[in-house]
Amino acid sequence: DEARASRESAPELVVVANRLPVDLEKLPDGSTRWKRSPGGLVTALEPVLRQNHGAWVGWPGVPDVDVDPIVEDGLSLYPVTLSSRDVTEYYEGFSNGTLWPLYHDVVVKPIFDRTWWNTYVEVNRRFAEETAAIAAENATVWVQDYQLQLVPKMLRMLRPDLTIGFFQHIPFPPIEIFMQLPWRTEIIEGLLGADLVGFHLPGGAQNFVYLANRLVGHPVSRGQIGVRSKFGEVQVGFRTVRAGAFPISIDSGELDELSKSRSIRQRAKQIRQELGNPRRIMLGVDRLDYTKGINIRMTAIQELLAEGRLDPKENIFVQLATPSRERVEHYMHMRDEIERQVGRINGDFGEVGHPVVHYLHRPIPRNELIAFFVAADVMLVTPVRDGMNLVAKEYVACRSDLGGALLLSEFTGAATELRQAYLVNPHDIDGVKDSLLAALDQAPEEGRKRMRALRRQVLAHDVNRWARAFLNALAETPHAGETGASL
Ligand code: ADP
Ligand code: F6P
Repeated sequence: DEARASRESAPELVVVANRLPVDLEKLPDGSTRWKRSPGGLVTALEPVLRQNHGAWVGWPGVPDVDVDPIVEDGLSLYPVTLSSRDVTEYYEGFSNGTLWPLYHDVVVKPIFDRTWWNTYVEVNRRFAEETAAIAAENATVWVQDYQLQLVPKMLRMLRPDLTIGFFQHIPFPPIEIFMQLPWRTEIIEGLLGADLVGFHLPGGAQNFVYLANRLVGHPVSRGQIGVRSKFGEVQVGFRTVRAGAFPISIDSGELDELSKSRSIRQRAKQIRQELGNPRRIMLGVDRLDYTKGINIRMTAIQELLAEGRLDPKENIFVQLATPSRERVEHYMHMRDEIERQVGRINGDFGEVGHPVVHYLHRPIPRNELIAFFVAADVMLVTPVRDGMNLVAKEYVACRSDLGGALLLSEFTGAATELRQAYLVNPHDIDGVKDSLLAALDQAPEEGRKRMRALRRQVLAHDVNRWARAFLNALAETPHAGETGASL
């Protein structure tokens, strides 16, 4: 038929994500331009898709705009329109006011709102329909993240020929916490529409398999799930759904190369000069999110300064925070708290022309960010919960000089791989303070030893390897469509 014929030149590999890799920006003069979207998902997936000439279905980042599909550098972008109401109820509401805090250990209280849920269902259906309309016969569709957990089931009903993968980029919570969700069964059933469901850590995959049995009654495998191996299985009628752990990564080779370039080295030196040539630079780089523990590192620094254990003339802290979900209440509170802390530290310990904390609330261009990584003596990554945390890996990839130290929360996915970092429990402020001093004062040989080991891990396990591991496992699923894509 006609739809089938038009699918002949259609994409064989389609990524579906809440956001496109670029956001449409409306300028004051009424014109528009595209800029890179925030967050780790885009950092990881964009290079993979570009290399594979895939298609990407997603929201262009602003409400109420109808944009035609565009082809850019071998990558086809298919924009999905969201109304202002969709943005409030599906994106800010159910995705980021309900699921985000629930999946991050209820760090703040999730809101359970039935209207938000209805809009989440509606918008997931729209993503499924738009994907069904463009994917080639027997294509591989890779659905991303917590905003689209119903898409796998909806898409399977529309297009049973497709091979469907799903990857969860944020933590999958402990069972007791997940059970709070009024729509827990619908979410598990939505995910079970996929052939393969991927998580960063084996624990998340294990929880999902357990819930498929407990909530939906499907027979499931019992064995331990491994990393990129030993998948869990759920028997859904005649289909086998697999669940596995695939820790995500970055384009480490590219960052390594860029960070060695003359221009970036020079810019790193210049940054140190611009900061007044301090003995040591501490750095934080995050989306401004309450899960990232930006307030925790500020408290640690403030107390160390107050106790005289950190000299404000010799130690500078730079916090680069990209704005995020600014209309969601908990984000507004966190921003106020952080900005109060910056003001207090500088008020108590800064001098005119010499603040102790340099705080920028805006996205930083990629090369500038790399120069900051190269310049920083200690990188502070202190989330109270984080699915992976790519910033930690980016810092390591940028340190071919074997300089610098990484202070890393145990509550990040990255901590399971980056064992030679200075690992901290972010809830234990005294522990954070002691480890921060240890990192600042590390002997050069000790630092090089740690960084060498960290780099071995990050350079060997790059984002291509992650994508290959996932897509190859997806192509091998027992009941997948005929031609699963592999890299
Ligand atoms: P998340 O996905 O929760 O935002 P990650 O650490 O996994 O967290 O990924 C964040 C990505 O966003 C990284 O690639 C990082 O370099 C980038 N990023 C974070 N803060 C900034 C900033 N202030 N300016 C530019 N890029 C940033
Ligand atoms: O995986 C974390 C994540 O939520 C992605 O899904 C998202 O693209 C990124 O962080 C940035 O968040 P947002 O799209 O809400 O700005």
